[in-house]
Amino acid sequence: MNQKLRAIASFIDQDDIVLDTCCDHAYLAIYLKKNELCQKVYASDINPNALNGAKKNILASQLDIPTYLSDGFKNIDVKDINTAVIAGVGANTVIDIIRYAPEHIQKFIISSNNHLGMLRKSLYQKGLYIKKEIAILDKHKYYVIMLVTREYVKEDRISLKYGKSNHQDYYLSLLKKEQDVLQQIPKRQIFRQLEHRMNIQELKRLIKRI
Ligand SMILES: C[S@@+](CC[C@H](N)C(=O)[O-])C[C@H]1O[C@@H](n2cnc3c(N)ncnc32)[C@H](O)[C@@H]1O
Repeated sequence: MNQKLRAIASFIDQDDIVLDTCCDHAYLAIYLKKNELCQKVYASDINPNALNGAKKNILASQLDIPTYLSDGFKNIDVKDINTAVIAGVGANTVIDIIRYAPEHIQKFIISSNNHLGMLRKSLYQKGLYIKKEIAILDKHKYYVIMLVTREYVKEDRISLKYGKSNHQDYYLSLLKKEQDVLQQIPKRQIFRQLEHRMNIQELKRLIKRI
């Protein structure tokens, strides 16, 4: 179990009936079940090879974890699921999967590989709200894990753009990225430079506030 999957598990509650939609090896589902961290867990994946690997691991663990071959929720007809994990895929895939999420799923735990700002805005527009975010540093890479619900949570432009991590280092890494990008923009592209200078000022203010 890597740190990202542990962080995802930290958002799971005892009452949750969980579907891990992009389960790959089913490590998360096995961890949840083995440690009795939720009521029930299902695992699914779009890729037959990944799902076969998951099935083998589940069989070896001797745990009861039903599996499904499915693009997101499309082949899932289980009505008791109240929590979905969507992790390890890009923001566009997360958004596609969420588009078909049934109403009885009240809680999502999301970790996108990219475009976090765009994802936050898109979730907000769909009436899904980020209750909490954590940033995990694993092998020199930051992973952001979002706890998303259907209950309204107020957002502002800054929180939608940069998130709500409690991790100062996470914002410092965003700042460094902005500074690196700024360095690479040719001098004549004043407007592009200005945009990144503004991001840098905003991030500096945000870092001071934490
Ligand atoms: C990198 S693995 C992520 C494994 C684990 N969730 C994690 O975060 O470490 C991505 C998995 O997502 C699956 N996947 C990609 N698009 C999907 C979709 N639309 N529905 C279900 N699974 C999908 C892939 O087949 C792959 O097994």
